[in-house]
Formats: sequence, C-alpha cells, structure tokens
Amino acid sequence: MRIQPWFYCVSQRAGGDGSYMRKNRLAAICLLILSIGLFGCSAEAGEETIEIIRGEAPRREEGLLRIGLIQTGKESDWRDANTNDYLNNFVEGRGYELIYVDGNSSPERQVQAMRDLVWQRVDYIILQPIVETGWDEAIKEAKQAGVPVIVADRQIAVDDGEYVAWIGSDFYDEGKKAVRWLENYLEEENRLNEEINIVLLEGTEGATAAIGRTEGIVEMVSAHENWKIVESRCANFMQGEAQSVMEQLLEEIDSSDIDVIISENDNMMFGAMKAMDRKGVSYGLEGDIITISFDALGEAFEKMIEGKLHVSVECNPLLAKGVEKIILDLQQGNPVEEKRYYVEEKVFDYKNASEYIGERVY
Ligand code: AHR
Repeated sequence: MRIQPWFYCVSQRAGGDGSYMRKNRLAAICLLILSIGLFGCSAEAGEETIEIIRGEAPRREEGLLRIGLIQTGKESDWRDANTNDYLNNFVEGRGYELIYVDGNSSPERQVQAMRDLVWQRVDYIILQPIVETGWDEAIKEAKQAGVPVIVADRQIAVDDGEYVAWIGSDFYDEGKKAVRWLENYLEEENRLNEEINIVLLEGTEGATAAIGRTEGIVEMVSAHENWKIVESRCANFMQGEAQSVMEQLLEEIDSSDIDVIISENDNMMFGAMKAMDRKGVSYGLEGDIITISFDALGEAFEKMIEGKLHVSVECNPLLAKGVEKIILDLQQGNPVEEKRYYVEEKVFDYKNASEYIGERVY
C-alpha cells in the first residue's frame, strides 16, 4: 500500500484568511509520516501508517457544519475565483468548518479525497470533479456511509440518484452560444459565404466543460459547409500549455490558413495570444484571426476593450451560494428543489465589454 499522507497536508480550514494548516494532532502525525516518506520507507511501514491515521478520529468544531470541498486544482484563473468563492462563503463566522482539498489535476487524488472525507464523516461533500468517469465506487461508498454529496461545476457519469444534486454551467449551450456569435459577426462583416478555417483549443479530455463545449461547437460549425475545424488540440485549460501547443501549431501550419481560434477558456486564449505575439501573428479586431473564448474573466474584458479578443462566453464560477442553499434545505429537512441547477450566464464581446467591466467580480 502506498503512503498517502497528502490528504491532511492539503486540508485547510476556512477561517479568517481561509488558509492555515489544521492544527490538530493528525497534522503532526501527517508531517511525521511525510518526513518518513521523503526519506524512503518500506511498504510495510506505509500500511502501518495508514492504520495509525485511520485509528484516530479528527477533532470536530462544536456547532459547525463540516463541509469537505474537493477541488480540481489550480488550472485557471476561473478556478481561483471559484475556490475563493467557496473559501469566502463557508467560513466559521457563518457556521461552517470547510476542509478544502486541492485535487492537483489528478482524478485519482480526487477519488482518494472523497474516501478520506467519508472516513472523517464530514456532514457534506462538495465535489468538483476533474473528469466525469471513475466515480462509481467512491460515490456509492459516500451514499452508504450517509454522507450527502453535492456535485458542482463539472458532472460525473453515475446515476443521479447516487448524489444529492448538481449545480453548474450548461457547457453545451455555451459552445453553441460561441458559434452563434461567430455567425452573427461574419454576417455583419459580409463574410458568411467565405471559407472559414477554425482552430479549436480544447480543455481537459473527459471534463464536462470540454465535452459540452466541444459538442456544441462541432454541432454548430458542421451546419456550415464552408466552415471547417482544421485543428483541434488539447491544452487542459492551462495558459502555459496552450502557449506551447500554439507555438507548435504555428510551426506546422501557416497562420494565414487560420481564420478563427476558439479556445475553451480564456487562459488558453491568453497563452495562444502570447504564442502569436512571439511569432508576429496578428489577431483580434485589427488582425487576421477572430478570437473567441469562454469564462469572461476580468482580463478577458481588458483584452476585448483593447480589441485583442472578440468575444468571451461567460462561465459563472460563483457556485457557493447555490450549493449552500441546497445544504440549508437539507438541514431543514426540505426536499432539494432541483436535481440539476444551471447558473445564469451571458455573452460579452468587444462591443459591450466597456459597459460591463465595472460590474465584474472575477
Ligand atoms: O469547469 C469550468 C472550466 O474549468 C472553466 O471554463 C475553466 O477555466 C476551468 O478551468
């Protein structure tokens, strides 16, 4: 058995600054185990260690609801806004003890975190999955243990009776909105009959945000005989990765063969822009390439106002209040109103960005 002391090392309790290490005896044990792990210890010692950890019940804060949050990682600025929303909402002053687990972009680590939170008998788990698959067993275990799971942001491929509710974005609709915007723009520019070559930068394979957006985009694009997705590459929603992917792509194809870049989030578009800047490729309102992305981050608004980004389809990261409503309903013994709850989202482009930038909170 592998030693997995990471869980306690990444657990944080949301309080004043929302980011201090748990100060209980388990943390000390964890650090001790980690040191042993770092200096190399045998498999037998690992098994023993797990037993020691699991033999000790974690300290409970009296009167607080214990919420375990399993986050995807820190792949984008959207994610930071989403994490901060939870950390600011589920604070001690409002009656919560939040145990935050950073999935570190590892689906396996997320599954392990779910098992650890169930073992800790938290009152609720908020699961923000990286990918849809791999949850069958862990979600059943949570249900059997009586720990309610609320899924947020992306979805999981299990029967929806296995969890309490899901809240998040309609990613498929976001994809369609992006292409609908392109149709309108090209019509205004009298370019609807031109051959249009599109490069698609995709998010993480298996993640609902990537699956849904790609489906919506591909479906709408394929309705136009003269439009073609010439390249489709994955950059995992990450800016640095997108920059490398785009630099590589520009080595392989001539930038004059690209009419549109659709990036499945703003950060990947920022990375692609850096790559284009380095290669001297022009894009945006004054350039040759139409730029479309998702999230509607503050930086995307700045780029739209500068004329570098044409449009950003909003993906709303502020999910904490919606999740809290579900929890409070359950606490009061009320049935959950909706099994699936879609958050509201808009489309912002270079024309209306300056009107809305002042209202943006992420
Ligand atoms: O699941 C939501 C997506 O994940 C956001 O579009 C992206 O920026 C994030 O990393």
